[in-house]
Amino acid sequence: MILKNVKAVITGAGSGLGEGTARYLKERGAELLLIDLNADGLKNVADEIGAKYFVGDVSNEEEMKKAITDFNGINCLVNCAGIAIGAKVVSSRGMHDLALFEKVLRVNLIGSFNMLRLCADKMQSNEPDHEGEKGVIINTASVAAFDGQIGQAAYSASKGGIAGMTLPIARELASNGIRVNTIAPGLFATAMLSGMSEEVQQSLIATTIFPKRLGTPLEYAMLVESILTNVMLNGETIRLDGSVRLAPR
Ligand SMILES: NC(=O)c1ccc[n+]([C@@H]2O[C@H](COP(=O)([O-])OP(=O)(O)OC[C@H]3O[C@@H](n4cnc5c(N)ncnc54)[C@H](O)[C@@H]3O)[C@@H](O)[C@H]2O)c1
Repeated sequence: MILKNVKAVITGAGSGLGEGTARYLKERGAELLLIDLNADGLKNVADEIGAKYFVGDVSNEEEMKKAITDFNGINCLVNCAGIAIGAKVVSSRGMHDLALFEKVLRVNLIGSFNMLRLCADKMQSNEPDHEGEKGVIINTASVAAFDGQIGQAAYSASKGGIAGMTLPIARELASNGIRVNTIAPGLFATAMLSGMSEEVQQSLIATTIFPKRLGTPLEYAMLVESILTNVMLNGETIRLDGSVRLAPR
């Protein structure tokens, strides 16, 4: 897919990796619909780059149907909306709250699935390009899908679910000319990480192999570009992580 022909829905676009991807694709001529729950962040980004936007919850069926109703010809979805929590299964503070576990799965896993089914449904009616391609879906998992830390039961389960559904959905949507890939970022400099103490951030950076720093939204966006433009990439979950392997704690 050529970037200037991209008509993309980007979720979580009010901040971090989604925002970085929105800026990157817009600069290269893509037409965008940005979605986020955080109205202020989303509006700032959308107004600055000149993109359409919709404030809503990716896991809400009706809201997201409404969000994309008038955005016809979607040929790209980048699922970046997500939340991270830390909670042990059992601790001196009691058991892991079940509603919290459910919420993380609802936003990260069900939210991603909700968006991809709604966008895939629209992508099917696109005219195929010379490769027979009608659309590309990019999800965001995490290296925590594979080496989650203590306290990441819910987050890892949600991201493992995204990695797990990538191949079966890519297999199914192949007949519709739609590719599906997932990016599994390591440690990236966004609001999600800057919420952690400097000490925790430094200990996480120390576990990366090379380069010894946090990744940037630009580096995430560059992988989005590669996935969009390289038609051979399909059904894959790609770690983007400077070889980090998260320690147990
Ligand atoms: N930053 C990292 O180190 C890192 C590592 C691995 C994976 N990830 C994943 O990358 C994705 C982007 O994270 P980020 O680092 O940019 O974090 P971020 O907090 O900067 O951005 C996430 C955005 O998602 C939005 N969001 C949350 N719940 C939503 C919902 N229900 N509906 C719509 N929008 C919602 C937030 O408002 C926020 O703007 C997430 O899925 C995250 O799990 C991030």
